[in-house]
Amino acid sequence: MSRLEKLVLATNNPDKMKEMKAVFRIRGLIVLGLDNFPEVGEIEETGTTLLENSFLKAHAVHIITGLPAIADDTGLEVDALNGAPGVFSARYAGEKATYDDNVNKLLLDMRSVADDSRTARFRTVSSFTDGIRELWTEGIIEGEITREAIGAGGFGFDPVFKLLQNGKTFAEMTETEKNKISHRGIALRKMQELLKNTFKE
Ligand code: IMP
Repeated sequence: MSRLEKLVLATNNPDKMKEMKAVFRIRGLIVLGLDNFPEVGEIEETGTTLLENSFLKAHAVHIITGLPAIADDTGLEVDALNGAPGVFSARYAGEKATYDDNVNKLLLDMRSVADDSRTARFRTVSSFTDGIRELWTEGIIEGEITREAIGAGGFGFDPVFKLLQNGKTFAEMTETEKNKISHRGIALRKMQELLKNTFKE
């Protein structure tokens, strides 16, 4: 296998970057962010699935930087909304929606949904390309949508997503606690396993 020493995490979202950098570590590998490559700019997510969008970002970044790239795409799937917002999670309340706009719309759309029907999951698809190989992994975490925002940590829908396994929202957890069990943490650790042989000394 080829000995590759640098890899780029393909996201412009500083919240995701922080979590990805904390989880994705391989000895002897320099992990770079897009802050090192301002020429990449915004990558439009025109796909209709998490897998498509994830590879769209990984391919674009690999082509521009010439380095192996890892991207992820995440969706919140709410059962009472037939899986929405899913792949459209970032734009749930509109093209320029903020995290707060999306959270408020979700709470509003869910206001008449009964307590036992508020189940949801986060799904992350992580993808890798070095121009030769293409790999992808998935991470899923089950929970339910709260009736109000709870907790001050995390980002995005974290304050309204309560985990089934510990009854806390992601926003009530430290970043380390979140990374240990989150959709993104699961997907990235699987990717790390797949890539260990590629990057080992
Ligand atoms: P992206 O397309 O993967 O950047 O994610 C789409 C949207 O999902 C983001 O804008 C966030 O609102 C939300 N999101 C992604 N990851 C998380 C997370 O770990 N916690 C809460 N919300 C998230």
